[in-house]
Amino acid sequence: MNKDLAPDQRADMVIEQMTLDEKIQLVHGGGGGGFGPPGGGQQQPNRSNGGAGFIPGIPRLGIPDLNMADSAVGVTRGAARSRYSTGLPSAIAGAASWDLKAAYLYGAVIGRELRDQGYNMSIGGGVDITREPRNGRNFEYQGEDPILAGLTIGQLMKGVQDQHILGDIKHYALNDQETGRNIGNAIIDQRSMRESDLLAFEIGLRDSQAAGVMCSYNKVNGDWACENDYLLNQVLKKDFGFKGWVLSDWGGTHSTYKAAMAGLDQEMPGSGFFGDALKKAVDSGEVPVARLNDMVHRILRSMFAVGVVDYPPAPKVVDVFKGLEDAQHIAEASVVLLKNANNQLPLDAGTVRSIAVIGSHADVGVLSGGGSAQVDPPGGNAVSPPPPAPGTADGRGGGRGGRGGPVYYPSSPLKTIRAKASKAKVEYDSGNDPSSAAALAKASDVAIVFVNQPTAEGRDVASLSLPDNQDALVGAVAAANPHTIVVLETGGPVSMPWINGVTAVMESWYPGISGAQAVANILFGDVNPSGKLPVTFARSESDLPHPEIAGLRLQQTQAPPPDAAGAGGGRGGGRGGGRGGLPPFDVPYTEGLKVGYKWFDAENKEPLFPFGYGLSYTTFAYSGATAAMTGRNVSVSFTVKNTGKRAGAEIAEVFAALPAGTGEPPKRLVGWEKLRLMPGESRTVTVNIEPLFLSIFDVEKDGWQLAPGEYKMMVGGSSKNLPLTCNVRMPG
Ligand code: BGC
Repeated sequence: MNKDLAPDQRADMVIEQMTLDEKIQLVHGGGGGGFGPPGGGQQQPNRSNGGAGFIPGIPRLGIPDLNMADSAVGVTRGAARSRYSTGLPSAIAGAASWDLKAAYLYGAVIGRELRDQGYNMSIGGGVDITREPRNGRNFEYQGEDPILAGLTIGQLMKGVQDQHILGDIKHYALNDQETGRNIGNAIIDQRSMRESDLLAFEIGLRDSQAAGVMCSYNKVNGDWACENDYLLNQVLKKDFGFKGWVLSDWGGTHSTYKAAMAGLDQEMPGSGFFGDALKKAVDSGEVPVARLNDMVHRILRSMFAVGVVDYPPAPKVVDVFKGLEDAQHIAEASVVLLKNANNQLPLDAGTVRSIAVIGSHADVGVLSGGGSAQVDPPGGNAVSPPPPAPGTADGRGGGRGGRGGPVYYPSSPLKTIRAKASKAKVEYDSGNDPSSAAALAKASDVAIVFVNQPTAEGRDVASLSLPDNQDALVGAVAAANPHTIVVLETGGPVSMPWINGVTAVMESWYPGISGAQAVANILFGDVNPSGKLPVTFARSESDLPHPEIAGLRLQQTQAPPPDAAGAGGGRGGGRGGGRGGLPPFDVPYTEGLKVGYKWFDAENKEPLFPFGYGLSYTTFAYSGATAAMTGRNVSVSFTVKNTGKRAGAEIAEVFAALPAGTGEPPKRLVGWEKLRLMPGESRTVTVNIEPLFLSIFDVEKDGWQLAPGEYKMMVGGSSKNLPLTCNVRMPG
């Protein structure tokens, strides 16, 4: 209990006192009720706090229980215990703010509320990059760029751990689609994974020192991610120098000896492999006791380092008001204005006489993402009975565990719009019948159509199209009213066949418990939008590296009905989304390094909206870029001026084209700065670029290399609008 000793030393002192049984006890745990490992439900031990994971502590040695909660967008599983948690905007929204302080705040809210509820570990922290824009979990992740995603998750995890809550980054690695997530085998070359997917983890872990890494369900190049020596031992533990522990995704452990020797430190949940079987393997000398001690050391040293031993959680009532404010702040920083013809927005509350609010249950709430990240809304689902999940006859694939339909938070855009435009007639139409919606739109000054794309763990979306005839709804409304504004509530990118017919479009992601306030503040100009896309919006599937999701057809033609599939793994279309009889299949990431905008650049494809894009109610001008080198550190300086009439924030982005012959895509994001500027104000900024961000991974030398030669640095407001360029030469 001596806080002055180093965490590693304290861990060793505990290990010296531990029996073999106590060590085994720490390397596997219980799950939340009902979500056991395949083949049997894991009962929740009595002391569990009700979260997804529980590992009993060792009171005689002062080691507390580990109470783990899913908390990607807020603390989950509140309903069963009547606990309230702040439902934050989706994680991809946090990334869309490009605001590292907002990312820290995001994590701090989660850490704070976990503490208040008696948890000491978060198992949120998703950072699988968006290789597959139809992935049902993109809302839990940080977009398609490894540097943006890595820096964002790093600050988010720091925010969590600064509350003395153990953090965890997941799903390591390449769990980029939900279709067949338990059987898919990601095929990818080392360089591409190091420079893309794994780089996001590398940066995130470096910046946060997160305690945990959750290995994923899928295979990577033939080995399960949770028994993959390359991923766990060689990259994570050796190259990244990761000092924490690797826990398996729920039911993702497949062996005792192989997993233990490949670097898995904790089986979750259950004891099938790291319970008696591991004890026997250690007793017989098959698994060296030193390896078991290493597993235990990693867990204990993290508990000391983060402070869960010295500063245990102190339950109290969650600060609801602070949570609402924080959620609103993050939402307002993350909404992305995609189109604003004729300055349709912001609306003038003083002059607008009538507004038609249409669709997406905007009378009562805003959509949230489903699955294990689902944060329970206060008072239950604002839409009751819940709508069925799109594409499913019975609504499976929507809510927690694929059960029930999409969940709406009680944050009503209709109410917040009415409050802003108090002199106007504001009427609502459900949008179920496009002609009735069009009639209301025709009789109104302005039409605001809310459209949504529900997404959830366990199921990818079938296509980039908005489900449930919503494209036709927008088309009908736009034909009836030339002032049609579309507000998107989506998990990720969608296509917009109606784009030319509407005047304004804004992406609110899943905007969280204060979403309606944030959306109204932006619609009426109380807040100037400043988010930018962390993912490319393609025009259609045919422009994607994989027009069809790997395994999707197999699933459609060969999988048993959802009930049978679910029974195999417990979690509706989720965990069962593979085990229920589907043959294993490869997920060939043939696009390699060309993820997201890098693909569109390299293939000369025009996206609908590019990575890094987003409008403001003011305008910005860029001038005077110069690059400087100190040693191997490049910095780029330039001036940004607010040339419009409103105060606003601009995300100024720096991209680099690497020297010819390096085999890199045309450009990559290497830095940015979010600048708040008053009308007429200009500021010169210097963006320092880490050598790592300009490096390539040399597979032969098994390390990062800064290639000598000419680097072209490009500066501007989106990946497709980079008016400034300057060059630097890297010496050999
Ligand atoms: C999900 C994880 C989650 C775990 C516990 C798994 O099915 O993939 O993200 O943390 O369940 O609920």
